[in-house]
Amino acid sequence: MEILRNRLRRLRKTESFRKMFSETELSVTDFVMPYFVVEGRNIRQIIKSMPGIFRFSIDTLVKEVKEIHKLGIFAVLLFGITEKKDRTGSYAYNKNGIVQKAIRTIKKEIPEIVVITDVCMCSYTSHGHCGILKGGNIDNDATLEILSKVALSHAIAGADIVAPSAMMDGQVQEIRDTLDKNGFKDIAIMSYSAKFASNFYGPFRDAANSTPQFGDRKSYQMDYHNLKEVLREVETDINEGADIVMVKPALSYLDVIKTVKENFNIPLAGYNVSGEYSMVKSAAEKGWLDEKNTVLEILTSIKRAGADIIISYWAKEVAKWLKS
Ligand code: PBG
Repeated sequence: MEILRNRLRRLRKTESFRKMFSETELSVTDFVMPYFVVEGRNIRQIIKSMPGIFRFSIDTLVKEVKEIHKLGIFAVLLFGITEKKDRTGSYAYNKNGIVQKAIRTIKKEIPEIVVITDVCMCSYTSHGHCGILKGGNIDNDATLEILSKVALSHAIAGADIVAPSAMMDGQVQEIRDTLDKNGFKDIAIMSYSAKFASNFYGPFRDAANSTPQFGDRKSYQMDYHNLKEVLREVETDINEGADIVMVKPALSYLDVIKTVKENFNIPLAGYNVSGEYSMVKSAAEKGWLDEKNTVLEILTSIKRAGADIIISYWAKEVAKWLKS
């Protein structure tokens, strides 16, 4: 006896039929494109650890953002990179700092673009940690004050969404209070709620020049052995006023994305981080993986797991692929 359970098999040979039954479809509007901004003019600097990704000066960044906007992407996530580092990361909230200038210029040239900014100190501290140090440890409460100054400086410059990524306790509350007090009630917070101490951030730290000079980030980022702890972190952030929560990294954390999606009714972002990008990129360069198909599979899995928003260094490429 022949058993043919799936009588749709014959029809599944055609792509349009498969699309008709597909449960998960990527859309260009799901994506946020991250950018690294540096001082100077006419700069489009190669990042060795992230082939295809560049550090842009503001002028070249504006051209680039115009391009992705034409492709249908409408949100960017900005990271400032600077040599102006000190122990307390004070340049991070300078009103003429690199990110603040970039926000102003982008919002002036392409006002429709949603500008999201990373709120952290690791690119601005001489020791490379995400907060203020006291006797070799992070001083959580002293750091909160700085983070809220950073977020406020971004809001003043015109950011639409601030994204605290330092993993300090109480950071969402502190930032919310500061924004509200200063007339920025409608500026949203995307919290890196479930940010794991991950090995997949390696290429980013090279790109952003933010590798900790000693130790690691395990005291403030999450332990990847844990899932229940995520529920506590996300719940706390929502109570403190987060508008969007994030799971980061994404690919090794699909179960985390799914769990957050099932337990909370709030927009959820997945961050397809630098290491996830570079490992596929390097294998593709060697001809070992087909880049486009592998990437679409990975990104679809992140969406299938439950992410409403995907932050990915492939956003621009994906926009082109989805068009063709
Ligand atoms: C800043 C920050 C990091 C990333 C985003 N924001 C680095 C870190 O926590 O070490 C990593 C992003 C990526 O790997 O693509 N705290």
